[in-house]
Amino acid sequence: MPSFGNPFQGNVNRKMSNAELMQALRLDIAGELEAIFLYEAHYLSTDDPAAKAVLADIRDEEKAHIGELITLMRYLDPREAELFLDGEGEVKELLEKLKLAGEPIPPAAGPTVGNLVQE
Ligand SMILES: [Fe+2]
Repeated sequence: MPSFGNPFQGNVNRKMSNAELMQALRLDIAGELEAIFLYEAHYLSTDDPAAKAVLADIRDEEKAHIGELITLMRYLDPREAELFLDGEGEVKELLEKLKLAGEPIPPAAGPTVGNLVQE
């Protein structure tokens, strides 16, 4: 992640190849994930309704940015797009098997960011 003490850290001195741009986009996605993690942590840490609404809205915008970046990656590298779709297909297949077996899809469970914070 960039250091705000160095305003030139993220600059690239030349045009990137598509392969280099794909690497940069992966880093950009990591930044979006970090932002989502932090906004969600702050959302969970307050009961103020205005703060919760604003933080949730920003968090969800970051999620949309991930969708934009992944769509751009699919455009730049069709092979990577195939792999994304392979993974999507594998999960859909598993979910379908669970439905056919009559087993309910388990809800997301486990610790949340909020209950991992030591008080
Ligand atoms: Fe973002």
